[in-house]
Amino acid sequence: MSMITTIEDLRVLAQKRVPRMFYDYADSGSWTESTYRANESDFQKIKLRQRVAVNMEGRSTATTMIGQAVAMPVAIAPTGLTGMQHADGEILAARAAKKFGVPFTLSTMSICSIEDVSQATGGHPFWFQLYVMRDRDFIERLIERARAANCSALVITLDLQILGQRHKDLKNGLSAPPKLTLANMLNIATKPRWALGMLGTPRRQFGNIVGHVKGIENMGSLSSWTAQQFDPRLNWGDVEWIKKRWGGKIILKGIQDVEDARLAVASGADALIVSNHGGRQLDGAQSSIEALPAIVDAVGNHIEVHMDGGIRSGQDVLKARALGAQGTYIGRAFLYGLGAMGQPGVEKALQIIHNELDLTMAFCGRTQMDAVDKSILLPGTFPA
Ligand code: GLV
Repeated sequence: MSMITTIEDLRVLAQKRVPRMFYDYADSGSWTESTYRANESDFQKIKLRQRVAVNMEGRSTATTMIGQAVAMPVAIAPTGLTGMQHADGEILAARAAKKFGVPFTLSTMSICSIEDVSQATGGHPFWFQLYVMRDRDFIERLIERARAANCSALVITLDLQILGQRHKDLKNGLSAPPKLTLANMLNIATKPRWALGMLGTPRRQFGNIVGHVKGIENMGSLSSWTAQQFDPRLNWGDVEWIKKRWGGKIILKGIQDVEDARLAVASGADALIVSNHGGRQLDGAQSSIEALPAIVDAVGNHIEVHMDGGIRSGQDVLKARALGAQGTYIGRAFLYGLGAMGQPGVEKALQIIHNELDLTMAFCGRTQMDAVDKSILLPGTFPA
């Protein structure tokens, strides 16, 4: 194995090691994938200003997200089916995040359950991402389970009551565990590490759901579950209801529009995440980094603004921070590490991003995250 120094190296290795169905699930966007690509390419257009002969000793990337101390402004994003990229994937990623000092967000659609992750991390607080479903009793129980597991924030996803069409998932017949068609068996036969890991764990289905919802013994596919269970009537009243029940910190995920950002402020949430769901929902929407500045301008004084989408290096984190994001999230960047090497791979992804962030901050003449603002960017190269 050649030396791993970038997130792209981890992606290449993950593609070799993870069965195609799950690699494709993580890696693809919806429809033409134009928004997915723009999330990354729009970061590249933003240019940094190098400064020299500035004392760069004693640097720190530490800051806070929703008032919690973080080693850098990067959290692990909630991603579905993480335990299919690697056996016990959510547990491994949560341990890596704990070790590194960054927040881990567990998806409702995870393979390891809330209780699994809590137990495996010794009750260390993590964030729980909530999808709003028709069955409100189930939502109430999920909220109670998150509370019992010591979760320190609830991340409510607002942009996936219906599922964007992802052509590869449809063609691959995505399900957890995978359906053993001939094509899938042949593909899995070329991934012995993955298969061995999976044989060694009991966690192979949606752990937060199977066994917790009446009548669901075997819930294989995200798309059929979304179509049947996700509540298309979701509205701001539901956000209020959840906020009351939960009583703790709330982060609203999936905001792209300034009007929605204002409604998010009115809802009393602690933070919002500028996000297009990694280009997996409305293809043709603008990139997250392009949407960020207008939202920060409109509501940045009233609510903490976070962003996700397209972060593949610490340079991207710094640019997002310069444009007003208090924090960012990595999804694919950690999934590649996980699929490539399990927990050490997630740690590697975090180290790579941290190192790039630290050096780039120094090149820009700053030693602290709070000193990073628009003035580190070359005028005319970033969205205003
Ligand atoms: C679920 O959150 C997905 O994007 O597949």
